[in-house]
Amino acid sequence: MAPFSRHDGTLYCEDASLEAIAATYGTPTYLYSRSAIETAFLDYQSALSDIPHLICYAVKANSNLAILNVLAQLGAGFDVVSLGELERVVVAGGDPSKVVFSGVGKTTTEMQRALDLNIRCFNIESEAELLSLAELANGAGCVAPISIRVNPDVDAGTHPYISTGLRENKFGVDVALARQLYQIADEHTALNPVGVDCHIGSQIEETAPFVESLECLLDLVHDLRTIGIRLQHIDLGGGLGVNYQAETPPSIHDYVAVLKERLQDQALELVLEPGRSIVAEAGALITEVLYLKPTADKHFAIVDAAMNDLLRPALYSAWQDIQPVTLQDGESHVWDVVGPICETGDFLGKNRAMVLSQGDLLSIMGAGAYGFGMASNYNSRPRVAEVMVQGETTHLIGKRENLSELWQREVIPSGETS
Ligand code: LLP
Repeated sequence: MAPFSRHDGTLYCEDASLEAIAATYGTPTYLYSRSAIETAFLDYQSALSDIPHLICYAVKANSNLAILNVLAQLGAGFDVVSLGELERVVVAGGDPSKVVFSGVGKTTTEMQRALDLNIRCFNIESEAELLSLAELANGAGCVAPISIRVNPDVDAGTHPYISTGLRENKFGVDVALARQLYQIADEHTALNPVGVDCHIGSQIEETAPFVESLECLLDLVHDLRTIGIRLQHIDLGGGLGVNYQAETPPSIHDYVAVLKERLQDQALELVLEPGRSIVAEAGALITEVLYLKPTADKHFAIVDAAMNDLLRPALYSAWQDIQPVTLQDGESHVWDVVGPICETGDFLGKNRAMVLSQGDLLSIMGAGAYGFGMASNYNSRPRVAEVMVQGETTHLIGKRENLSELWQREVIPSGETS
């Protein structure tokens, strides 16, 4: 069941009205449907139930503790890219033995903590990183489980900023170098090569690039077997797209089915790192129209949310649906929905036909992924509240920042206050 629906002209998330959420928690506020998150995760789980698998939710998509906790309760593993994300998983009750650690620049502090926690796998992105981990593990008298992130040189057909699987991108290593790194790892007593991974990009709408990457990884796995290196898992990363506007990405089920077809009889565990496809459509950002400003060229609706709260439109020209929370009668105009920040790039949506009045509430849809997680305090704007909806119940899962929190970490050197 879709998490958002309209009754008597007003928008609901599950059984909670967005009007009521705005009245209780103020605006702007992010809200997330718990059941939509659970349903997406369970879709992955049931599609994969007949093969060995591990679903490692990509924490960067939405790292709120309550969301991590919901997923941990369902048995999720986690893909982390920083010490902060790793500690969040621990605090949220996630199981470190189901954690994979990605990223091109893991520090020794990060790797040490991950070793202490006995994480499932380090996804290694360079020779220097491999050697650094080997030295650490050796010093600690333990063996680090590793996977090499292969850059399969596949065009994911997505926005250049979120495309990661081309040779020119900073991610992973090419197949030839990967082979050499596996040999180094195999010979090193403090390294255990357990898997291979890739991640070719995000918001991918076709299955072909995934299949191409999977075939590239399978070729490498077979090649390694001939030199006596037997890997146990293939991690295909995340990247499955969602429907923001009129995109038609494969369903979770169809995507997994295509992968399983290629994996038959391989005796390999399939690891996936989905982020967006689990949380994006579960979330929305409610904002209030502060002022309407019709000009000779454009109609601007100035709202209380801005690019610091939801960066995707400004950064990637991303299109997210914007709906009036309650439909009004009247004349429709075409609006640019913009925030109060002093940047021309501060827009949430352009050319949206709506009937609007000052004080109306708008809901920016598809905001569960890469929304709050990419928020900043730019223009000294406190970060907004986050609410989880469960049926008709709402829980505050992220408090709105207060003003003093904006500068609590800053210090005026003594003697300089007057
Ligand atoms: N694994 C790795 C190694 C990743 O780098 C990512 C995302 C994922 C998994 C999860 O990908 P997903 O399933 O969410 O597509 N901020 C951008 C998206 C950046 C994605 C970065 N990496 C946006 O708002 O569109």
